[in-house]
Amino acid sequence: MTDADNAMDGVEAPQADLETLSSLAKRRGFAFPSAELYGGFASTYDYGPLGVEMRRNIRDSWWRRMVQQRSDVVGLEAAIVTNPAVWRASGHVEVFTDPLVDCLNCQGRFREDKLEDRTCPNCGAKDRFTAARDFNLLMRTFVGPVEDDAAVAYLRPETAQGMFVNYDNVQQTMRRRLPFGIAQIGKSFRNEITTGQFIFRTREFEQMEMEFFCRPEQGLEWHRYWKEERLAWFRSLGVRPERLRIRDHEQKELAHYSKATSDIEYRYQWGWDEIEGVAHRGDYDLTAHANASGKRLTYFDPDTNEHIVPHVVEPAVGVDRVMLMLLMDAYDEETDDRGETRTVLHLAPQVAPVTVAVLPLSRNERLVPTARRIWDVLRPHFRTQYDDAQSIGRRYRRQDEVGTPLCVTVDFDTLDDDAVTIRQRDSMAQSRVPVSGLVEALRGAVEAMTPVVEPPAPSPFED
Ligand code: GAP
Repeated sequence: MTDADNAMDGVEAPQADLETLSSLAKRRGFAFPSAELYGGFASTYDYGPLGVEMRRNIRDSWWRRMVQQRSDVVGLEAAIVTNPAVWRASGHVEVFTDPLVDCLNCQGRFREDKLEDRTCPNCGAKDRFTAARDFNLLMRTFVGPVEDDAAVAYLRPETAQGMFVNYDNVQQTMRRRLPFGIAQIGKSFRNEITTGQFIFRTREFEQMEMEFFCRPEQGLEWHRYWKEERLAWFRSLGVRPERLRIRDHEQKELAHYSKATSDIEYRYQWGWDEIEGVAHRGDYDLTAHANASGKRLTYFDPDTNEHIVPHVVEPAVGVDRVMLMLLMDAYDEETDDRGETRTVLHLAPQVAPVTVAVLPLSRNERLVPTARRIWDVLRPHFRTQYDDAQSIGRRYRRQDEVGTPLCVTVDFDTLDDDAVTIRQRDSMAQSRVPVSGLVEALRGAVEAMTPVVEPPAPSPFED
């Protein structure tokens, strides 16, 4: 079930593979194959009740840290389907392509740049491919009643362009001085060829991106800043630091306009791979849109009395990929002294779908109303779940498996002493607490389980 061999690179704990995680995700209501009734839909998932809560927590954490806790970043929600001129100017219509080859032996279709030793991943044939042809990843649609070339529009393949085309609107209306950032969370679409890794790479996915506009000579310093800042966010979510690293792109990997680009990588069960990109994009995008629209997209610097085109640093990450990484990082199978195994997700409380589960010892008619009353008290304060089905041991296991940090058990003593038992997920330690102090006690327990959050570093430049 887990890959014992991946205890390499000094990473001690074995990790769950994608099959284990996707089956847990389905069994426990995180993610279902989309339209499973009809046999599913390739590489497309529907998120269930627990997945929805977890994704909301991920977005909230990102938004708090990237927008609300900062003085230099503001938000935006741009349209998913917009004027196709945007995608012509950005280069997506012409060059947003993957090199596609067909295997002459089994007719499988693959990205040439992902082949190992020019061997077919499907049938093993070596060097038996068609010549590569460029395959555009944009998803097309039609706007209006007539489906002709003039009506073609695209589903956005990234949220980033929304920030570039609104640069002037935001800068003017918010009276922003450089440096400042524009952040956005939303769905993006790509007609990906290489999928099949659960929610790692899908055709519909959700991005969290921020374009940080700065003076050109400050670009490289801000790129260094944002790499470290983004890494700190992952640590604040409780991701094991030894499974995170920054990989700076080599000169030959850089786009012609980029002075520096880095990937933040996570050590997945299959090896190191990208979780987030942090790119220095220079003035490429603003210049491209200024040229294509004929409008000036510059910044007037009141200190130096000059018009400049700001440079941009862009941290860009996917909600789905963060979710997969968190599930993989948190997954554990523990065996106790009696040889019994429990599956547990050691999720940080701020991302766990449920924070507190309320569990009456049984469905006894005296216990249930008391447990429900306690649930009513807790609901305004925590993400809660009430569960009275099956034995208490099985319910603890169910909560462990979805990463619930704390359970509150209501038993017959509660009826006399108005106290309950708090059970902690990781240590399984139990403590007795009066109902009158329960909210406070749970808050303390949540805090004790929350990773230390390093605050964002101050600007590398004098204000
Ligand atoms: N604006 C820059 C941009 O979109 P990217 O490296 O193509 O850069 C950024 O995407 C992040 O979005 C990736 O690091 C990944 O987390 C996520 N992402 C990209 N394509 C994805 C896909 N097909 N499925 C899931 N997540 C994806």
